[in-house]
Amino acid sequence: MSEFERPETLKPIETPAQANAFIEEKINEIRAQVGDKKVLLALSGGVDSSVVAALLIKAVGKQLICVHVNHGLMRKGESEQVIEIFGKELDANLVYVDATDGFLGKLEGVADPEEKRHIIGAEFIRVFEEEARKQEGIEFLAQGTIYPDILESKSGVKSHHNDGGLPPDLQFTLCEPVKFLYKNEVRMVGEALGLPHAMVYRQPFPGPGLGVRCLGAITRDRLHALREADAILREEFDNCGLAGKVWQYFISVPDLKSVGVRDGKRYEGWPAIIRAVNSVDAMTATIEEIPYAVLHHITYRITHEVEGINRVALDLTPKPIGTIEWE
Ligand code: XMP
Repeated sequence: MSEFERPETLKPIETPAQANAFIEEKINEIRAQVGDKKVLLALSGGVDSSVVAALLIKAVGKQLICVHVNHGLMRKGESEQVIEIFGKELDANLVYVDATDGFLGKLEGVADPEEKRHIIGAEFIRVFEEEARKQEGIEFLAQGTIYPDILESKSGVKSHHNDGGLPPDLQFTLCEPVKFLYKNEVRMVGEALGLPHAMVYRQPFPGPGLGVRCLGAITRDRLHALREADAILREEFDNCGLAGKVWQYFISVPDLKSVGVRDGKRYEGWPAIIRAVNSVDAMTATIEEIPYAVLHHITYRITHEVEGINRVALDLTPKPIGTIEWE
């Protein structure tokens, strides 16, 4: 059997009972593989790494060391949720690194989208490597690789970095317990492991986070405005039931100011641009039709509650021609 082939013995996971059976089997496998050694995991709070973390905590408890790097580009409340769920509720061995200043310092004045992505990726690996070197006795690196990652790497669409990006002198044996599962199966397993629904059904969120939505050169004040506006959008989508229906929705804030008026005075501010799209594979996307009453309410809240925003606009562009993200 090739490394790309899903084993025939692995039946589709469509019910909680099937998810539980998978979990039991994986726990045994992980215990046999890991023994009494330590495992390292970069825990972003995304679906895949969260499910792998919960599975490993069940299998080997404190032998798993989760490193959560807060790059300062997370959405509102996300790092706090990782600490709450994994650090407190699941009592995991969690290393929390607030690397905000390092990331934002390196990004200062950088407007080019590709350069921003490169800086964020490189700094992430640097911080993770620094934490990995502080740990003693690590033998395994756990990763939330899933089956579409393997298939994309097989077809040459995307290279699958299966070493965590770590340098050659810091290589560990891989532990990838969900690598033959499709996304919906990973979610079933996550729910069976007791992770919160909101975490398991989280919308896709790019690795560079709000860094690709705070367009152009990132400043702390505009990043803060973006985070607050995005939190309002998510709250209102939750309230009106769109959150469970729309595939991906977010705010982007360009580096551009327009004139406005607030409390009878000139008020210059940035626009918050709403994007809400539906997609299956992110290759193409269509626009969700948000009811006007909801749009008016979101506009009112963002322009009244978020410092620095004086307009709200709606992006009606499908993919193609517009990519989902603006950068
Ligand atoms: P685009 O903008 O190319 O995005 O239409 C397609 C999907 O990919 C997400 N995206 C990323 N995900 N790392 C990720 O993990 C990234 O650097 C990245 N950039 C874009 C985007 O949010 C959309 O769902």
